[in-house]
Order: sequence, then structure tokens, then C-alpha cells
Amino acid sequence: MEGRTRGQWSSSAGLVLAATGSAIGLGNLWKFPYITWENGGGSFVLVYLACILAVGLPVMLAELLIGRRYQTSAVGALKKAAGPAWGLLGAWGVLAAFVLLSYYTVIAGWSLFYFVKSAGWSIAGYPGEGTATGLFNEQALNLPLQLALSLGFSVATVAVVYFGVTKGIERVARIFLPVLMGILVLMLISALQMDGAGEALAFIFRPGPIETGAVLEAVGHSFFTLSLGMGAMITYGSYISKKESAVSASGAIVLLDTLIALFATVIMFSVIFSVAGLRDEVGASSVGMLFISLPEIFFTQVPFGRFLGPLFYVLVALAALTSTISLLEVVTAFLIDERKVARPKATVGAGLAIFVFSGIAVFSLPGLLGEEVEGPLSGVAGFFSRIKVPFFGGPEDKVGWFANADHFVSNWMLPLGGLLIAVVAGWIMARKDTAAELMDGTEPQWFRYRVWRIFIRFVAPAAILAIIIAVISGQDFS
Ligand code: PHE
Repeated sequence: MEGRTRGQWSSSAGLVLAATGSAIGLGNLWKFPYITWENGGGSFVLVYLACILAVGLPVMLAELLIGRRYQTSAVGALKKAAGPAWGLLGAWGVLAAFVLLSYYTVIAGWSLFYFVKSAGWSIAGYPGEGTATGLFNEQALNLPLQLALSLGFSVATVAVVYFGVTKGIERVARIFLPVLMGILVLMLISALQMDGAGEALAFIFRPGPIETGAVLEAVGHSFFTLSLGMGAMITYGSYISKKESAVSASGAIVLLDTLIALFATVIMFSVIFSVAGLRDEVGASSVGMLFISLPEIFFTQVPFGRFLGPLFYVLVALAALTSTISLLEVVTAFLIDERKVARPKATVGAGLAIFVFSGIAVFSLPGLLGEEVEGPLSGVAGFFSRIKVPFFGGPEDKVGWFANADHFVSNWMLPLGGLLIAVVAGWIMARKDTAAELMDGTEPQWFRYRVWRIFIRFVAPAAILAIIIAVISGQDFS
């Protein structure tokens, strides 16, 4: 623990690893392949890459520089950057952390479940075709099991954040990130040997027609996947030593996150295109790819799948953990810096609150899976399964906390937060302040700074505003 002095990344590599750990998560492994599938591949991927460069990278730099300049939590940093009222924007981020963590923890819990299951199958043998098919609903509707899994995941998150920036967050990222990438590269090699690999690559990289809605969906996802728009990167930026620069780090973070998303998509689609009949199943549900079809395919189709299966679910769990850590740190840093709570107390308190939120998401699972609620918990479960937030929760068919929370975070909280952060960095902060952060004086960096400034003042806000206008006119992005 850091005692009275604030923690700091031990080096630029420490920042890159921790922030990349935050960025790489369920967004890369679960959401990106799915929305690429939904939007027909090629052109969507191209547009997404453009959004990452034109919106993601500038906002990443903006968040890191705001944190680095004021060396305090998102709430405090935004107050110092733009005035007391802007603390509300930081508070918006803290709220987003709670809402996002509520369902994110539940999905992370599924990966824990499938890790244990598939490790068991590796040792004892796969019980036979069809075993995994009904399993997903069975485990997801077992609410006590789901609560236990979420609790386990929350405890793991708290256990890391408890030990602070260097000894907790950075240390875990240093170990997990290389492991995660190693597993993914192994899987990529295995996937590329499957029959469907060629078709998969063509689907992902060959441009075709694209709809306007998909363009906007790509912008929204670039926030989600890079952990932007809710203060996570401001918080991580506040642990950058004044001796280190944020500029090259942000390039590395964005590049790694993008590579991992593409790897995951190539792996997933190589499998889908190799297995007969899988194409039709996939479209049916977003969880389908990761937790319904894939488990069995590992044991019946993938070369070395028996070993890769459990490894894959560990990978998902680790990727999710380094993301939940950053979400919890947003809340923890706020409590420490603004409310003067000691780190141990702040972490455990925030962790408990988050567990309560994930309980709400668990109770809404029957609604998500279109099942009736039975048993002693049916009253609560029924309530959260059927809850519907008008307008902000998305279209009619999104019922229950889980679906509404996901919609609200992706379509409202992150884009709005990102827009306002761009306004703070581009329009409110003095030019000399942002310039001092982005240029360390060792080389003439005016050109780079000017390009960033054009993007953060004009390009990024215009693109984000376009999303918000589209959302108001009824477009769905999640
Ligand atoms: N970037 C994470 C992912 O892709 C999600 C996340 C969003 C984490 C916002 C922190 C803050 O899964």
C-alpha cells in the first residue's frame, strides 16, 4: 500500500501494461467479434479502425494528459482542469463504473465457470456431443451459483486494487498481459490451420457495403474498447510520473488493444466458418459465440482444443480482471483523493457496493434469457428481469437490468462522457497547459501537437455528436 503519498507507475512500460490491461477485455473478446459479425465484416472493421485513429487516440491522449497534469482522481482532475462544476463529469464516470461493473462482473463470472468446467473435461474427458449446449442456460439461471461467481470475481478485483498502483495493479498487469497475449497467439496459430481460416480472413478484411448505423456503432465501440469516456484513463494518467510522457504510451495502448481485437475476431470466425451449421447459430445471441458454441467446439473440432479450451477461458477471465481492476480504481481513487478514505477501506467499501450492483444484474438474468422466474427469489428476480428504462435503456426488446445497463453505458454514458472530456481538453484547458503535457521539450513536437488539437477540438466532438444525435433519433448501437 502506498501510505500517504500517491502511487505511481514504476515506468512507462508499467503504464502501458496497466492501461492496455484495462483496454483489453470483454469488449475485445466478446463484443467486437459479435458486432463485426452483425455488421457484415470488412467495411465495419475498416470504419472501426478509422474511429480508433480519429476519435479513440485523441481522446486517449486527452484523458491521460488531464490525469498526468493534475495527479488526482478523475473528479478532482476535471475540477482543476475546468472548474468546480466539472467535478460532475467525474462523478458521471464513477456512476458509469458501477453500472458497467454490474453486468461486466457477471459475464466475467461465466468465464470462470467455463474455465473450471473445461479444465474438468480436459482431465476426465468430454462427456459427449451436446453436453455444452444446454449448459449455458443451466448455469446462468442458477442464481445462487451466479451470485457466487460474481462474488468470487469481485473479491479477486478488490484483492488486486487493495495493494495499490504499483504493488497491485501494475504487478498483476505485468504478469497477466504477457500470458494473455501468449495464449492468444497460440490460439491464432491453431485457428489459422482450420479449414475456415481463409474465408474468415476474407470476411473480416474484404470491404463490402456498409450502413450508416454501423459507422456510428463503430465510434461507440471505440470508446468502450479503449476504456474511454468515464475517467478510467484519467485515473491511470494521474499515476504517470512527471518524468514519463503519455504520448508514445497512448500509441502503444491503442495499437495493442486493436491487435488483440483483430486476433480474437480472426480466431472466432475461423472456428465459425470451419464448423458446419455454426453460422446460423451465431447470429441468434451475442453470448452464443463465446459461451454456447465455443465450449463444445474446443473439444470436438479445434486442433489441441482440449488444452486450448481451458486456456481460452482463463484468458477471458484475466482480460476481464485487468479491466474490472481499472473500473474499481476509478471509484477507489475518487474515495481516496476526494473523500480522504484510506485505500484498504475504500477498496473494500467500493467492492461491496459493486457486488450489490452485480447482484442486480444476476437477478435480471432470467429476463435476459427469456425464461420465467421460479423459486423463492422469483419476486426480486422478476422485478429486475422486467425492469425497463424508458428511452435510455434502448429499444422495446431490451428488457431487464442487464440489457438496459449495457445499452445505457454504451450509448449514453461513454459517448457523452467522451464528448465532454474532449471539450475540456480542446476548448476549456489553456493551450499552454495541454501543450506542456504533450511536448516534453526534447524535440520539436509542434506538428504532432497541432494535429492532436485539431482532432480533439473538431473531429472527435463532431463524430461523437453524430452518435448522440443518431441515438436520439432512435438508432441502437449496443
Ligand atoms: N475496455 C474494456 C473492454 O474492452 C471495458 C472498459 C470500459 C473498462 C471502460 C474500463 C472502462 O472490455
